[in-house]
Amino acid sequence: MALKCPKVQFTVVDIDSKRIAAWNSDHLPVYEAGLDDIVRARRGINLIFSTEIDNAIYDADIILIAINTPSMEKDNRLGAAADLRGIEQCMRRIAKVARHYKIIVEKSTVPCRTGDLISNILRQNSNPGVNFDVLSNPEFLSEGSAIRDLLYPDRVIIGGLDGTEGAQDVLKSIYSRWVPDDRIITMGLWSSELAKLASNALLAQRVSSINSISAVCEAVGADINEVSRGCGLDARIGSQFLQASVGFGGACFHKDIQSLIWLSESLGLHDVAEYWDQVLKMNESQMSRFVQRVINEVEGGLKDIRIAVLGFAFKSGTGDARNTPASHICNQLLRQGASLFIYDPKVPDEQIRNNLTVELDNRKPQFHICHDAYNAIAGSQVIVILTAWDEFQAVDWSEAHSQMIQPAYIFDGHRLLDASYLKQLGFHYASVGTHS
Ligand code: UGA
Repeated sequence: MALKCPKVQFTVVDIDSKRIAAWNSDHLPVYEAGLDDIVRARRGINLIFSTEIDNAIYDADIILIAINTPSMEKDNRLGAAADLRGIEQCMRRIAKVARHYKIIVEKSTVPCRTGDLISNILRQNSNPGVNFDVLSNPEFLSEGSAIRDLLYPDRVIIGGLDGTEGAQDVLKSIYSRWVPDDRIITMGLWSSELAKLASNALLAQRVSSINSISAVCEAVGADINEVSRGCGLDARIGSQFLQASVGFGGACFHKDIQSLIWLSESLGLHDVAEYWDQVLKMNESQMSRFVQRVINEVEGGLKDIRIAVLGFAFKSGTGDARNTPASHICNQLLRQGASLFIYDPKVPDEQIRNNLTVELDNRKPQFHICHDAYNAIAGSQVIVILTAWDEFQAVDWSEAHSQMIQPAYIFDGHRLLDASYLKQLGFHYASVGTHS
């Protein structure tokens, strides 16, 4: 936004001073292709990172709320409510500090009708004569392609209650500087909030659907890539998000489906809740099926077998390991007694360590973090590919094979590598959605 609106002042504030310091340094706290250049181009000009929250609130005409809303601890089998405490605190602070009219924009993914909660807190705590309009403007960027998604969005949704049309026009005028008008749509506040949850649920559902078909492919000898192509070329179905994998991960899909399940349950819509719960169950089943395949196909089981784990991020292009399938899969492999040599080009060591929490009777889980694919591979007997990083395609597989304990196995969770070439080299090669 700062890049596209050079005349608008953007101040990013956070209570976490370390994070703000990182945003002001040469080492940004998140990895995202293209982000460094943009921050460098605008920082100190119309993009300020600061911990002076009250000053920023006081000065702002528009406040975008981008506070995380993690799942609360589950208290029943179905779903989990989103934790809105951060948002509530923030609203109290805005109400206390504000001295003139402001537009408050929900950017965080929130349960339907959070707009009500926000408006109530603001109304009850505001200074006399200070009014607010609350809008919903959900974020649809994907990690790894965030900058492209922001520059060329499929759509921008601006939701608001009746009477907030003026505020919607103000926000629209910001996006209009780079997004074509027909891609900026306005709607009711609750529809906008629900459109965000529903979009993520529908995307995750596609991944679970194609993964369910991958299980059938493995059993009957069909090829999931061929099936995906055969389905995706139907324009009504479309080709995106039909890539079979070890399962979906990340900070959003699981959390948002849980929130949708919770919402459905609380509305008494039990069948709806069960329906979306099945998308999550299918995802867990896909991860477990992958591990089971490794157990079934490696002769003699996995006890004391050295496994090279290539990729730990929840998807390529990001260093994010939140809710990554690699975490579930590695913990299950450790439970089998395997020792893991893990390499990911972007995930920090600490995040990998924090994800490997399996408790084993009388022994410590055996894992090592490597800083190069060859270090992980040399001396291993099995390779599992858990993130589709391009650099794994560039590995010299002939050299890798010669450095491995024989017979050498590859289990490819993303259909990344060339099956016939690897089989020719002597690997036992198995991938999601194909028969070995
Ligand atoms: C997702 C949505 O795609 C964004 O539109 C949304 O804004 C974002 O959540 C959010 O709510 O913040 P993200 O979690 O960054 O974005 O990543 P995705 O590209 O959606 O991938 C999610 C998971 O699905 C990854 O683990 C990926 O490997 C997996 N996936 C995706 C597949 O297994 N197969 C596919 O065909 C596509």
